[in-house]
Amino acid sequence: MSAQFPVARPRRLRRTPALRRLVAETRLAPADLVLPMFVKEGITEPQPVSSMPGVYQHTRDSLRKAAHEAAEAGVGGIILFGVPAVKDGTGSAADDPDGIVQLALRDLSSDLGDATVVMTDLCLDEYTDHGHCGVLTDSGEIDNDATLERYASIAVAQAEAGTAVVGPSGMMDGQVAAIRAALDGAGHPDIAIMGYSVKYASAYYGPFREAAECAPRFGDRASHQQDPANAEESLREVLLDLDEGADMVMVKPAGAYLDVVRRVRDTVDVPVAAYQVSGEYAMIEAAAAKGWIDRERTIMESLLSIRRAGADIALTYWATEVARRLS
Ligand code: PBG
Repeated sequence: MSAQFPVARPRRLRRTPALRRLVAETRLAPADLVLPMFVKEGITEPQPVSSMPGVYQHTRDSLRKAAHEAAEAGVGGIILFGVPAVKDGTGSAADDPDGIVQLALRDLSSDLGDATVVMTDLCLDEYTDHGHCGVLTDSGEIDNDATLERYASIAVAQAEAGTAVVGPSGMMDGQVAAIRAALDGAGHPDIAIMGYSVKYASAYYGPFREAAECAPRFGDRASHQQDPANAEESLREVLLDLDEGADMVMVKPAGAYLDVVRRVRDTVDVPVAAYQVSGEYAMIEAAAAKGWIDRERTIMESLLSIRRAGADIALTYWATEVARRLS
């Protein structure tokens, strides 16, 4: 038998760290990472989020410090979530020029300049007393079109306070078009929109709802967020958002939806982001705290997988830590 020894030996290129580095198909870089950050009104000390060890609800001051650290580590961007002191039915703190996110945006645009991209989540659930992503009809349903008017106004408030990119995360139909028209109408044609185009009704958001204090008081988000059973539908959402003027699109969560990340990447020609959400973070931190997995290796593998699936940008609560490790 002539084929006693294999001629093809894929192991040759795996033999040493230098060979493996040379042939690596995917690389992580600090500039591809975006750090989600929470800023809370009316607190004097940062508050740890118990279900997300290492993540804080920031004061304005601690946010400035943490954002500076992220920028210094080379993180590509940060995305802000606000937790207001007072909530009401229409989420009026969301577009108040002195609302917490607008104040934080003014702080950061003067601090950071162009060192990193400052973006904002654009939704109502952190701001409404009922915890839903929109305003409600008398019968307690989300009023899609009345919500669009609120989103338009929030976009303008965020743009005037200095955001570079707004990320509408409420999954209302027509939200990107409404926001684009409002931004353009108010003289902000340069502010970009990163659509949370593909957003599933996911159990992985659990810890975020503690961090952002936005669990719905009744019902759930299944009437607007996507059914985890569906993938084709994601392409429809993405194409609609692009038609409406989205500059980038996002898939969320990331880890359980890497097939969707790949399909979106293969379908569109704009940057694709994927959001490694709070539950993905919490699971790895919890298992590592128990000594059941190697924390650093698991974090790096999870992020590499997101890039390998085709995402250009990964939103991750580990952004600063990972950026430091990479550089
Ligand atoms: C909605 C929003 C959510 C997240 C980001 N934006 C929560 C939700 O839809 O219930 C979740 C992020 C995470 O879990 O890390 N404003």
